[in-house]
Amino acid sequence: MGRRIFEGACASCHQWNGNGQQTSYAALAGSQTVNDPTGTNLIQILLTGADLASGKVRAYMPPFGKAYSAEELAAVSNYVI
Ligand code: HEC
Repeated sequence: MGRRIFEGACASCHQWNGNGQQTSYAALAGSQTVNDPTGTNLIQILLTGADLASGKVRAYMPPFGKAYSAEELAAVSNYVI
């Protein structure tokens, strides 16, 4: 289930290898967030999304808290970790 959700909702921006499409800020590979087995930051960003504006960089990630159930968010989190 986690892989299926990642394919449909995450890979377009984060790519299968986790490099991140928009900016290096969107890189999952090597990120503290996805290397924390408790998933605290990961769940937080999935629930609320992110809107980063720093210098010339503008990077947006939509929130997923309303689109997915707790079980689905847990599945995609486990997949990413
Ligand atoms: C529209 C593009 C987009 C989609 C779709 C998207 N993200 Fe993101 N994501 C981003 C961007 C851009 C950032 C960087 C935001 C920041 O640094 O403030 C980010 C940041 C993250 C981070 C934090 C990375 C770090 O360095 O701590 C995680 C984890 C993450 N996304 C997971 C996901 C997952 C899982 C999905 C699918 C459910 C998803 N994202 C869907 C664009 C996207």
